[in-house]
Amino acid sequence: MKSFALSALALVAPVQAGLRFGCSTLTIQRLDPVVEPGKAPSAHLHHIVGGNAFNVTMEGDVGARATCTTCEQAEDFSNYWTAVMYYKAANGSYHRVNVVNNAALAKGVTGGMTIYYTQYDFTKDNVKQRPIKAFPPGFRMTVGSPATSTLTAAKGHIGLRYNCLTTLLNRGPEMPDFPTKPCPAGIFAVHHFPACWDGKNLDSPDHQSHMYNTIKNDGFTDAPPCPASHPVRMPQVTYETVWDTTPFNNMWKSGDPQPFVWSFEGTSGYGTHADYMFGWKGDSLQRAMDKDNCFYDGCGATKKQTMDIANKCKVKDMVNEPIDGCKFLFRLTQNNERYTNEN
Ligand SMILES: *[C@@H]1O[C@H](CO)[C@@H](O)[C@H](O)[C@H]1NC(C)=O
Ligand SMILES: *[C@@H]1O[C@H](CO)[C@@H](O)[C@H](O)[C@H]1NC(C)=O
Repeated sequence: MKSFALSALALVAPVQAGLRFGCSTLTIQRLDPVVEPGKAPSAHLHHIVGGNAFNVTMEGDVGARATCTTCEQAEDFSNYWTAVMYYKAANGSYHRVNVVNNAALAKGVTGGMTIYYTQYDFTKDNVKQRPIKAFPPGFRMTVGSPATSTLTAAKGHIGLRYNCLTTLLNRGPEMPDFPTKPCPAGIFAVHHFPACWDGKNLDSPDHQSHMYNTIKNDGFTDAPPCPASHPVRMPQVTYETVWDTTPFNNMWKSGDPQPFVWSFEGTSGYGTHADYMFGWKGDSLQRAMDKDNCFYDGCGATKKQTMDIANKCKVKDMVNEPIDGCKFLFRLTQNNERYTNEN
């Protein structure tokens, strides 16, 4: 499945259980409690959704500590984040790209992300790899890396892809790098995480090696069984974000280089990455993963909330700097040192 289409979802829905829901934007700040706990500001700006336990440093049971979430799933206090997209004008100035709503989400989702927790495959009998084990409290992981600098390496990150949107439902092919022409309805970014766990570690020094990806082709399909080193099948977590690049389309002159960059100064798009901090309350995610033959809401196994309530959830600004100006854009140098862009 080259691009996950809603019509395909309707066709395969009876085979598989899982969750698909919207989370409004919680905050946009230069914080990263997984990769750079305690650092405010962190190396680059992030777009964050989910629960209000989000903080400079996060330890312990996030689901027990948070009191609200921007997600439609009312028991999901996890945090989900990615880098932020900018338009880099020919004169060197940077303009933040807004996030807009994906298709087929609850009324009132504001920007944010679409989150999926699925079993190993959308299309095949899922009995072989049951049970799916929910993440334990304190669990965290990342996927991708801002240091990814070649097309080959980007292609190797199965599940980190872009689509050039014609409309929200007509996404065109998936690509490992930024589109090379203006996209009529924006740039769609998808981040699939690996779903095999070592069964022991809530995190690892690189935030990735406690997890293992068995997917070979497309993030939503064909996940072979987990290996002995990472034997525990976890939910397949996926983020989708719609970046509204349309206000910049008429500023992108034919012949100019591709003008969109990530907040770590990634001009190719190769370095796209995402962070996950588990925070479902109690056994709520496990209840959804134990269901069969339904999609979107785990057969009602979990509590939902209306988005007018979800949208009241806030966290305070812990960094205190403008997020739209070029002065505040940072990138990692090859030595992973912080580099200030003074343009
Ligand atoms: C964030 O961390 C600070 C410092 O540990 C703490 O005082 C504050 O209560 C935390 N905020 C939230 C929302 O957990
Ligand atoms: C640079 O170009 C952008 C986009 O055309 C424009 O909005 C901005 O004002 C320009 N900045 C300067 C300093 O000329």
